[in-house]
Amino acid sequence: MIKLKSIEEIGKIRESCQMLSETYRALIPMVSPGISTGELDRFANSYIRKLGGKPAFLGYMGYPAALCTSVNEEIIHGIPGKRILKEGDIVSLDLGINLDGYFSDRAVTVPVGTVSQELTRLLKVTEECLFLAIEQAVCHNRIKDISQAVFGHAKQHGYGVVREYCGHGVGFAPHEDPQVPNYVGRGPNPRLKAGMVIAIEPMINMGGDEIETLSDEWTVITADFKPSAHFEHTVAVFEDHTEILTL
Ligand code: MF3
Ligand code: CO
Repeated sequence: MIKLKSIEEIGKIRESCQMLSETYRALIPMVSPGISTGELDRFANSYIRKLGGKPAFLGYMGYPAALCTSVNEEIIHGIPGKRILKEGDIVSLDLGINLDGYFSDRAVTVPVGTVSQELTRLLKVTEECLFLAIEQAVCHNRIKDISQAVFGHAKQHGYGVVREYCGHGVGFAPHEDPQVPNYVGRGPNPRLKAGMVIAIEPMINMGGDEIETLSDEWTVITADFKPSAHFEHTVAVFEDHTEILTL
């Protein structure tokens, strides 16, 4: 069931999203060769609490950290720890905030120092997928318009598209209906309505579509070990425009 949000409720979700943007403004500059993923997680956790929020993912379905840190061939749900980031890596940072029961969700993939041209292109195209998708996320369009925008742009560049994980409704919980796939398949295809708040999150692989999950039961990687990128925004649909709440 899709839960529509009132203007007042979107206002609270916007506050949560702005807190998340502020956290990223502090967190992203910390990414550099030599820092551990655990340090990034500890920073994000304490920064959010200082601002008066709670990390939305810590404890969610048993997830053990505030932040997801997915390096290179890791796609999503990488668990922060002792791993040291090195020059030439890319790292996806995925984070959400619970502010008084209102949830935000955002992800970015960041280069560590200088990275190859190939990786730079993967990051650029994946972020373009996100913005092309957001352009389609307007009132009266359908979910598949979003999916098609991501899928078409990624495939035009010869990239793989993750099918097993999707974008989603968000706001009253970390994950709500509807699912927002990055590929065009069968399944529900609701029309977008004013009051819908969704997280759009292309996960794009330099190689094939296939994924595997590591024995930690969280970390999702590419089956061919080629690198993967992930960008996400929370957006609110209004009758006459769509607002990127996590900008
Ligand atoms: N950020 C992820 C998403 O966009 C959620 C992380 S789920 C958790 O859907 F279980 F790892 F917390
Ligand atoms: Co999400």
